[in-house]
Amino acid sequence: MISRLKKLKSDPILGLVAKYKKDIRPNKINLTVGEFINNNETYKFNCIKKIEQTFDISYKYLPITGCLEFIENSRKFVFNETNNLLGYQTLSGTGSLWLANQILKIVGLNEIVISNITWPNHHQIFNVKDTYNQYDINSLFTRIEKGYSEVFLFQTCCHNPTGIDYIEEEWNEIFKRIKRYNHIVILDNAYQGLASGNPSIDNYSIRLCNEMNIPFIVCSSYAKNFGLYNQRLGNLFTNFNVENLDDYVKKIIRTTYSNPPSFGTLVFNKVYLENYNDWSKECKELVDDINIKRNILYNKLSDNNIIWDNLKEGNGLFYLTPLNENQIDGAGGDWHHPDALTPGSSLRDPIPVGPAENHDGEGDNG
Ligand SMILES: Cc1ncc(COP(=O)(O)O)c(C=O)c1O
Repeated sequence: MISRLKKLKSDPILGLVAKYKKDIRPNKINLTVGEFINNNETYKFNCIKKIEQTFDISYKYLPITGCLEFIENSRKFVFNETNNLLGYQTLSGTGSLWLANQILKIVGLNEIVISNITWPNHHQIFNVKDTYNQYDINSLFTRIEKGYSEVFLFQTCCHNPTGIDYIEEEWNEIFKRIKRYNHIVILDNAYQGLASGNPSIDNYSIRLCNEMNIPFIVCSSYAKNFGLYNQRLGNLFTNFNVENLDDYVKKIIRTTYSNPPSFGTLVFNKVYLENYNDWSKECKELVDDINIKRNILYNKLSDNNIIWDNLKEGNGLFYLTPLNENQIDGAGGDWHHPDALTPGSSLRDPIPVGPAENHDGEGDNG
């Protein structure tokens, strides 16, 4: 007999989006998902528009591990140099994290430690055994020193949903302890380039982990930093030194999606090899634009005696607002755009807001 299924808890973001769609106010703004939107269109990089028509598309299957040229180009993008680490093209960042979890299972590592506030999908992909306080590095140090050979997941930059990243000195201290306690690291690299505007700076934690020979898996997405959202383009690299691992990973890919799609790799390769300066310039412009918006919003709020901590200091598309659920629902005050703000809002346009209150909710973005 086919069994019955219990109703799943509804997704808070999807509920907000549904309300947003119903709202008839003309100036509404949807800040729920981390996408660059300009004039209601998902932002397309000009350098990509320029080359889009020039592809000679083949529909030949890619190898199980993906387009080899793409893996080599993205290796240089992720590490600033080439290396011999195992590398795979993945189904964007989510597919890469999913594959990372499969690898953990193969090598007998079934649980991870993560920050208490994080992208909620981490909890659905991984088996989370413990958390530490995202806003208190000492809480992380204490957690690192609590055991040996555990798996820690970190976001390399543009932390979703807080926007608060570790600076280089903090990464040094974190990885010193991670190494001492023999831990393993997953680096979620979903926004490389969108913190400083320079991908070769935003990858500091990846380079450091690699240099220190800490066992790690880095999971990258090219959804936001190349605007290739629906192409599902990502990669996974690992320095795990485990005999036969590559065969096991290939078997997992072969028995799930067999091999990844191709079009995104054509775009990425062409941008990387022929239009990189254009892309770099545009990436920096987007980051400057986000920072201007952070400042405008901060100043508008402080003009009304509302101080949103870390708003100006944060990186990337997200900011964890101090708004509570009632305020977001519009029940608690005079909201012009009650449906526009989530606890982890993406920052695209400055918006009129009401009084702030403390809360510790998590956003579900991305
Ligand atoms: C922290 C983080 N990791 C991974 C992802 C996965 O993104 P995608 O699967 O669209 O590449 C996201 C998306 O928002 C994210 O915020």
